[in-house]
Amino acid sequence: MIVAIANQKGGVGKTTTAINLAAALALRRQKTLLIDLDPQANSTMSFLDIRKVEKNVFDAMVDDQVGLRGIVVPSPVENLWLAPARIALAKLEAKLVGELDAHFRLKDRIDAVRSEFPAIVIDCPPTLGLLTVNALVASTHLLVPIQSSYFALEGTDDLLETVEKVRTRANPGLEIMGVLITMHDKRTSLARDIRAQIQKVFGPKVFKTVITKSVRLEESPAYKESIFTFAPDSSGAAEYYSLSEEVMERV
Ligand SMILES: Nc1ncnc2c1ncn2[C@@H]1O[C@H](COP(=O)(O)OP(=O)(O)OP(=O)(O)O)[C@@H](O)[C@H]1O
Ligand SMILES: [Mg+2]
Repeated sequence: MIVAIANQKGGVGKTTTAINLAAALALRRQKTLLIDLDPQANSTMSFLDIRKVEKNVFDAMVDDQVGLRGIVVPSPVENLWLAPARIALAKLEAKLVGELDAHFRLKDRIDAVRSEFPAIVIDCPPTLGLLTVNALVASTHLLVPIQSSYFALEGTDDLLETVEKVRTRANPGLEIMGVLITMHDKRTSLARDIRAQIQKVFGPKVFKTVITKSVRLEESPAYKESIFTFAPDSSGAAEYYSLSEEVMERV
């Protein structure tokens, strides 16, 4: 499986989901590759010291000779490998302008290493630009985190429209694996209303697992750890582990 974690709305839990889902899959002994496709490099920084990152996804996408093999590094988590990002990725769009295969770069690079990684997770930036489109073209599945907040559904139409466009030609097999409710606060009636509303729109696509608000999930990246070693007994660890089970069932 190749799962893109995307939603062009910022701060909805894409990175938190990407790092902890990837770590959960690794914990289930799946050799997993986490590709950081966001110039902000938050996934990368959650596991590595960014100053020590030399080659990154930009180099892999621009130079066929580098490819993913030339940039992938082990993470501190067993079975988890990382294709790191750096701010240079922000220049990719300008660099690839006019290239006929611009939308297929990531797919081609993944094809070359796919047999080594049964699970690949891609953390997307909060835009619907070339980077996210590359992720959608390369993926078998899309996972959409939606923050349990008043404007939760804002922008999802544009995302689904982009998915439709990608399906028409570039990647007809792309499946919407599911919608994940994040940062949920069970105590408030507003959050319950929002959950009901999301369920009404997306029906069975909504994962049964809901990620609740948890300070532990916010803290773990600062310690360069996934939730499973940072706070193994926390609600976040249990929820992301249960998400990984649902993800594997839906493949
Ligand atoms: N379940 C949660 N409980 C509490 N805080 C959370 C939770 N999930 C994410 N956060 C925090 O919310 C902020 C935004 O989360 P995250 O970085 O995962 O979102 P994002 O969608 O990747 O953002 P961006 O669009 O900027 O890439 C971060 O500070 C993160 O630690
Ligand atoms: Mg992010």
